[in-house]
Amino acid sequence: MTKHPWRVWAIYMVLAANLSEQQELKQACPSCDAAQLCNCSSMGLDFIPPGLTAKITVLNLAHNRIKHIRSQDLQQAVNLRALLLHSNEISSIDEDSFQSLAKLELLDLSNNNLTHLSPVWFGHLFSLQHLHLQGNLYRDLGESSPFSSLRNLSSLQLGNPQFSVIRRGNFEGIELLNACAWPKNLKYLNLSSTQIPKVTTCIPPTLEVLDVSANNLKEFGLQLPFLKELYLTKNHLKTLPGAAPIPNLVVMSVRRNKLNRFSKEEFESFKRLELLDASDNNFICSCEFLSFIHHQAGISQVLVGWPDKYVCDSPLAVRGAQVGAVHLSLMECHRSLMVSLICILVFLVILILVAVGYKYHVVWYLRMTWAWLQAKRKPKRAPPKDICYDAFVSYSENDSNWVENIMVRELEQACPPFRLCLHKRDFVPGKWIVDNIIDSIEKSHKTLFVLSEHFVQSEWCKYELDFSHFRLFDENNDAAILVLLEPIQSQTIPKRFCKLRKIMNTKTYLEWPLEEEQQQMFWFNLKVALKS
Ligand SMILES: *[C@@H]1O[C@H](CO)[C@@H](O)[C@H](O)[C@H]1NC(C)=O
Ligand SMILES: *[C@@H]1O[C@H](CO)[C@@H](O)[C@H](O)[C@H]1NC(C)=O
Ligand SMILES: *[C@@H]1O[C@H](CO)[C@@H](O)[C@H](O)[C@H]1NC(C)=O
Ligand SMILES: *[C@@H]1O[C@H](CO)[C@@H](O)[C@H](O)[C@H]1NC(C)=O
Ligand SMILES: *[C@@H]1O[C@H](CO)[C@@H](O)[C@H](O)[C@H]1NC(C)=O
Repeated sequence: MTKHPWRVWAIYMVLAANLSEQQELKQACPSCDAAQLCNCSSMGLDFIPPGLTAKITVLNLAHNRIKHIRSQDLQQAVNLRALLLHSNEISSIDEDSFQSLAKLELLDLSNNNLTHLSPVWFGHLFSLQHLHLQGNLYRDLGESSPFSSLRNLSSLQLGNPQFSVIRRGNFEGIELLNACAWPKNLKYLNLSSTQIPKVTTCIPPTLEVLDVSANNLKEFGLQLPFLKELYLTKNHLKTLPGAAPIPNLVVMSVRRNKLNRFSKEEFESFKRLELLDASDNNFICSCEFLSFIHHQAGISQVLVGWPDKYVCDSPLAVRGAQVGAVHLSLMECHRSLMVSLICILVFLVILILVAVGYKYHVVWYLRMTWAWLQAKRKPKRAPPKDICYDAFVSYSENDSNWVENIMVRELEQACPPFRLCLHKRDFVPGKWIVDNIIDSIEKSHKTLFVLSEHFVQSEWCKYELDFSHFRLFDENNDAAILVLLEPIQSQTIPKRFCKLRKIMNTKTYLEWPLEEEQQQMFWFNLKVALKS
């Protein structure tokens, strides 16, 4: 027994206090009794149980209702390596709460109610390697970097829906700039599900894994020479990021962005890429893109979610079809080439048609057919009533001298005189020549053809087309009289005048003799023929 009973009492009180703390801990968290691993998760605790000692190396207090961490709560747990406090309701932490945790390697404070991060909290966590802060309520990283003293930190999870680099309308990312003093060993940074519209050069260049999924990024161009994994899921990227600043990338996700396409060059510039998740984008299935996708060897092993998650958004004809299954036709792929080819072809065909038409007098045939159709449509007059000429004379301009001076005089001054119809004199002006001819033939008893080389070349064409209409040369119709002014070689008659050739062979004709004695005979025969 000691001389100072108050001291004994004091020691007793301390022991009792220790004892009651131990009992309290045992009650609150049975597994923590004298154990190195202390699992108090999902126990409904709303405080950190007292009595935690230096024995404990792993403390799991996740999924409780803890709201506050006090200075003394963890003061004795100096050998703690892992502290799991995720999924509580922690909104305040006393400044020196983690002060004695110099050996702590993992601190998980994710999914709590922290509205700000204080640099003082982490000031003594010299061994900390993994820090999880995602799923809290802070909007930025505060005025000075909360992580600058975490020399050994290698992975950091920061993402939460409120986190944003935009504040006070400043787009330069001041909040991230403030955090630029990163721990120099940081390899893993998770900034997913924040409101970041732009990643700044403040992102530490030592990173090997960067997750910036579910942000508002429109582009990504950071220089991260060691980066192996890059997660850009659910952003607004229109193209793949450039490969040059991230040459060692092995895994990349650009799922659910606004990618329309990526090219062979872009794809191949990632020399080490083993997995690319570009699924759920709005691909434009152009010929170029399809031909690259279909012909790139081994691309189906690289693309995550291939083939069913890669769907064409346009062109409309293949919308909703899998990129791997779509094949565009030659016509669709080389439209302009095809159009020009077709144009050239059409032009050639027209050229050939024109040439052929010219060679075979197609225009003439067409005009004649047209005229003939016009004539056919007119109501037929009763022939006898209208007959007012003895003969309609058809001749060429070259022979007009003979016709107008010699023949007309001979016939019109004969006794009784013949009434002749000459186109120069008797045609109705303004009417189409073929109509005039048809009319005149119908109004005349006979038709007299003054044949010469020139007539065949220039006049005959008007008659050749349809003699079934004129009925002049039917077997037993002698309404046509042929006068041959000069001998005509049958081979000089153009081939298309097959009717003329036939007539020349079958009909008898009157030949104009050069000897005067015989001309009397000619006129006599002609008058007989006209009268018959
Ligand atoms: C009781 O707690 C005090 C501090 O509260 C500590 O110094 C002491 O070592 C503890 N004693 C035992 C037996 O745990
Ligand atoms: C801790 O306990 C919870 C349930 O009480 C269990 O789900 C979890 O796996 C445990 N963790 C460890 C590290 O033992
Ligand atoms: C913590 O946050 C959650 C969801 O954000 C909310 O339901 C809860 O009431 C908050 N708790 C406190 C103590 O603020
Ligand atoms: C940092 O971590 C390494 C292992 O990753 C360890 O060897 C070193 O001691 C740690 N430094 C401190 C100050 O804890
Ligand atoms: C980043 O954090 C989110 C949410 O905490 C998680 O779903 C995702 O898997 C993490 N990313 C990586 C690469 O670990």
